[in-house]
Amino acid sequence: MKIAFSPSLERGSDLWILPFWEGPKAAAEYGSLKIESAVKDFKGKSDETAFCYDGEQRILLLGLGKQDKASVEALRKAYASAVRAAQPKKIKRIDVLFPKCRQKDEFLQGIGEGIFLTNYSFTYKHDALKDEPIVLLEKVVFVGVEKTDQLEPYKTIIDGVHFVRDLVNANADDKLETFVKLSKKLHPKVKIKILEKKQLEAEKLGLILAVNRASSLDPYLIIASYKGDPETKEHAVLVGKGITYDTGGLSLKPTDGMLSMKCDMAGAATVLGAVKVAAELSLKVNVTAVMPLTENCIGSKSYKLGDVYRSYSGKTIEINNTDAEGRLVLGDAIAYAVQNLEPTCVIDLATLTGACVVALGEDFSGLFSNDDALAEDLLESSERTDELVCRLPVHNDYKEAFKSEIADMVNSGGREAGAIKAALFLQEFAGSVPWAHFDIAGPAFITKPKAYNPMKGTGYGLRLLVDFLMRRSS
Ligand code: BES
Ligand code: MN
Ligand code: ZN
Repeated sequence: MKIAFSPSLERGSDLWILPFWEGPKAAAEYGSLKIESAVKDFKGKSDETAFCYDGEQRILLLGLGKQDKASVEALRKAYASAVRAAQPKKIKRIDVLFPKCRQKDEFLQGIGEGIFLTNYSFTYKHDALKDEPIVLLEKVVFVGVEKTDQLEPYKTIIDGVHFVRDLVNANADDKLETFVKLSKKLHPKVKIKILEKKQLEAEKLGLILAVNRASSLDPYLIIASYKGDPETKEHAVLVGKGITYDTGGLSLKPTDGMLSMKCDMAGAATVLGAVKVAAELSLKVNVTAVMPLTENCIGSKSYKLGDVYRSYSGKTIEINNTDAEGRLVLGDAIAYAVQNLEPTCVIDLATLTGACVVALGEDFSGLFSNDDALAEDLLESSERTDELVCRLPVHNDYKEAFKSEIADMVNSGGREAGAIKAALFLQEFAGSVPWAHFDIAGPAFITKPKAYNPMKGTGYGLRLLVDFLMRRSS
């Protein structure tokens, strides 16, 4: 999307967006425009929109809410409403009059992010692909703002969000191939290593191989490394759950539970996107994405309940639920990272448990960590990006639930405190490395659009991770 700046509104633009704070409106706010009657009815409440015309000029009135409640997030949401309202008009350019305020930089960020995040579409609809194509914005003109390149990094980051959304929304059957293809050409400064089935067998990543058994497609462990700061040993390893489809396996999911399971690789998509963006922004950090990728299928070769598999770490796992597959592939991937990549911290993202969605809903991810400093740092990134996170306890007493008579652990500790128990299982593979785990089962894939997030893949977590990396960039 092109960005431009202009001192004043120019007639002939597809759409002017005029902002209003909530409350009585001074005539001066809309100057010489003949839109008085439209403005009279307009309250300026958060996210309120109304179209009107002054002669030929199309205008959208946009409510920003109360000025003393203004925030970056409130502006993201308001401008998301504006872009949504404009979308059916098939507009390519909008001219955005900057609201009167003192916090110019902050507000420009919020407005820009709101527009970029909302300007997204993913569809297989025949109409949209042919006769009635969806038109996205190609140009935004900020009116009343001095020329600045302040928005450039946000543009790059939000392209990363769209990259994640596209991967999550893609057909499950295309995902494995797409991951390999996109990883290979991610960025010239990113080194890619792909472990194929043979290498996974040779290196004994037994849990990834177990989950993969019933699939007609081979598994991968993809490792994408960006070394932006060779001077230090600091190395953040991001591990992402990459189940390209989760049927539950022999512990088969019912239809309702399976409907959204193309999203089960959102963690992998997000960590790949984060490394892509880190490289694009030339951040001075060392960061690696590790992605265990496979389907969790049902079939005659399925891994079976009661059987025992040996993990890369050496720990043996008795399978008591084939639908608790995410922790298996992540366990192997985390152990592999700890033993081979010299991480100074490991952060995993995973659509891991329905229990986390029951606890926190679609707005929050759950954060678990064995290291308070790391957790605090991530929570700060959550505050800075408004990607909501709720820290939950890694309560070691609950480890009892994983007792097995014949192996080191079972893979499911039952329903109660399911999100915490899943985190406890992962923790076993991180050893003494500072580790954090985001359960993104709620926010990664949503059932209806909300503010600047479309329905289905949201790209949740990418902005948070990039903020975390940016603040470490020396
Ligand atoms: N991929 C699911 C978790 C999930 C649920 C993600 C809803 C997104 C939305 C995961 O593999 C799973 O099936 N978890 C089980 C764990 C249980 C068997 C211990 C669950 O949540 O029921
Ligand atoms: Mn599952
Ligand atoms: Zn899953």
